Amino acid sequence: MTANIIDGNALAKKIRAEVADRAAALTARGHKPGLAVILVGEDPASQVYVKHKVADCEGCGMHSVLERHDASISEGELLARVAALNADPAIHGILVQMPLPKHIDPHKVIATISPLKDVDGFHIASAGALMVGQPGFKACTPYGCMKLIETTGIALKGKHAVVIGRSNTVGKPMALLLLQANCTVTICHSGTPDLGVHTRLADVVVAAVGRRNVLTADMVKPGAVVIDVGMNRNDEGKLCGDVDFAGVSQVAGWITPVPGGVGPMTRAMLLVNTIEAAERAAAN
Ligand code: GUN
Repeated sequence: MTANIIDGNALAKKIRAEVADRAAALTARGHKPGLAVILVGEDPASQVYVKHKVADCEGCGMHSVLERHDASISEGELLARVAALNADPAIHGILVQMPLPKHIDPHKVIATISPLKDVDGFHIASAGALMVGQPGFKACTPYGCMKLIETTGIALKGKHAVVIGRSNTVGKPMALLLLQANCTVTICHSGTPDLGVHTRLADVVVAAVGRRNVLTADMVKPGAVVIDVGMNRNDEGKLCGDVDFAGVSQVAGWITPVPGGVGPMTRAMLLVNTIEAAERAAAN
């Protein structure tokens, strides 16, 4: 079997166009949607990510602010900046780029963001809402993965899904979203003795570990949907995921590439959350 490739770039483009229409409609009513991105320090990868996030907003006709702070900013000063953005009516979404310098507690920073502006979906209120099935912002990467899975047209009810990885930002919310879609969900992690025992039973596998070749062809059920969240470099320095794409694409029914799969969808879902936040604010 040769898997169908799920094109994250194409889906993200369609979603951005829908967001742009919603942004134009809100702007016409005098409520231009706005995202604030806070970057602390000089981490090169973070600089690239935030540049893209701000450009994406502008491409959709949304207002965006990029606040850069020196790595020496104190935790208190950063919390005060977040509080100021919470109170700013032109800002509907706030994202503090992670990782933060060691002297700043990321949990405190996330807890300070208003849940109404938590477009990353990282706040305990957002995570808790997902846990109990209440409305709230979904973390962008797992939200994007669900949209990618939807494009296959496969009904998730009753399917066996295996999530590899248990991070707060991807693995755990991913498992909850699949559970909400009535999958039977298994979460595997670094303490799982034999990963293949689980993945070979899975109709859907989401790999979110951050290590290449975590999932190889012998570990995949023929026809399965394979979503690759990983962003790694191979020996030649080329971007690759957690999945052995060449091998697994011979067995799976559907697979996301890296690059061009989950990455663009994470960015697109940030825009969706931001427009959602702005629409809710305008309705109040
Ligand atoms: N660092 C890497 N990815 C992300 C993300 O999605 N949100 C935030 N806030 N920081 C990140």
